[in-house]
Amino acid sequence: MTPSDYEYLRKLLKERSGLDLSADKQYLVESRLMPLARKAGLGGIPELAQKMKGGAATLTSDVVEAMTTNETFFFRDKIPFDHLKEAVLPALIQARAARRSIRIWCAASSTGQEPYSIAMVLKEMGAALAGWRTEIVATDLSLGVLEKSRAGMFSQFEVQRGLPIQLLVKYFTQQGELWQLNADIRAMVQHKQLNLLQDFAHLGTFDIIFCRNVLIYFDQDTKANIFDRVAKILEPDGVLALGAAESVVGISDAFKPYPDRRGLYRTNPVRGAQSGVAAFPFRATAFAR
Ligand SMILES: C[S@@+](CC[C@H](N)C(=O)[O-])C[C@H]1O[C@@H](n2cnc3c(N)ncnc32)[C@H](O)[C@@H]1O
Repeated sequence: MTPSDYEYLRKLLKERSGLDLSADKQYLVESRLMPLARKAGLGGIPELAQKMKGGAATLTSDVVEAMTTNETFFFRDKIPFDHLKEAVLPALIQARAARRSIRIWCAASSTGQEPYSIAMVLKEMGAALAGWRTEIVATDLSLGVLEKSRAGMFSQFEVQRGLPIQLLVKYFTQQGELWQLNADIRAMVQHKQLNLLQDFAHLGTFDIIFCRNVLIYFDQDTKANIFDRVAKILEPDGVLALGAAESVVGISDAFKPYPDRRGLYRTNPVRGAQSGVAAFPFRATAFAR
C-alpha cells in the first residue's frame, strides 16, 4: 500500500466511523482489508482504494465494517452489571415508581452480549420490575453485528466467556453446537443501526446509557462531541456507563463520576447539558449506506 493509499483510507475511516488511526497502523489496515480485497477479486489494497475512489459504495461500507473492532462478551468487566443490579436499578425503581418504565440504550452493542447481559439483569430483578415497561435499545454502526445480535445465537466459546452457568441453563437452549437465547430475553432488546457520529436525539431520552469500548477508538474532539450529545438525552438522574479504559476526565465536563461506582457517570448539573450541540455536519453527509 502506498503512503497516499493509507492516507486516503485513514481519512475515510475517520469521517465514516470516527476510527482514529495513527500514522503507523498500515499493518492493521493490511491485515483487515486484504481478505476483503481478495473476496472482491482485487489484487491488493491499492486496487481496493482505487475502486472506492471510483464510488463503490457497498465496498466502502464493507471496508468501514471490516475495520471496526467487535470484541465483546457477556457481563464484560462484571462490575458495571453488579452496579446496575445493586445500585442503579434499585434507585431508578424508587424514582420511577409512578411511571413504571425504564429505558436503556446500549450505544455500541456489537454482537449482542452486552444488551442481552442487561436484559438478563432486568429479568433477574423478578418481582421488583413485574408490570414495568422496560426497553433496551441496542445500536451499532455495523449491520453484520446487528444481524448476529438479532439472531441471539452464540457459540460454545461465546457462552463460556463471562456468562454464569446458571444463566446459560436458565435462558439458553442448545441447538447442535450453538446456544440460542430464549425468545423472551431476545424480545426485550430492539436493534437499530446507528452511527454515533450522526445525530441520535431522535432516540428519545434514556434512564441508563451503556456506551462502552467504542469511544476509545475516537479522537478527543469526537469523544467530547459525543459526550455532549449523550448528556442531552440522558435523564437528569440517569446513569452513563463507560468501558474500563474510558473516562470523561480531561475530555468533557458534561458528566461527573457517580459516587463510589467506578465506570458510572451522571450528567453534571453545574454545567447542565449544553444545548445546540450538533453531530459533526461534514460526517453526517459523508456517511451514506
Ligand atoms: C469493541 S465493540 C464494544 C461492544 C460492547 N459495547 C462491549 O463493550 O463489549 C465496539 C463496537 O462499536 C461499534 N462502532 C464502531 N464505530 C462506531 C460508530 N461510529 N457508531 C456506532 N458504533 C460504532 C463497532 O461496530 C463495534 O461493534
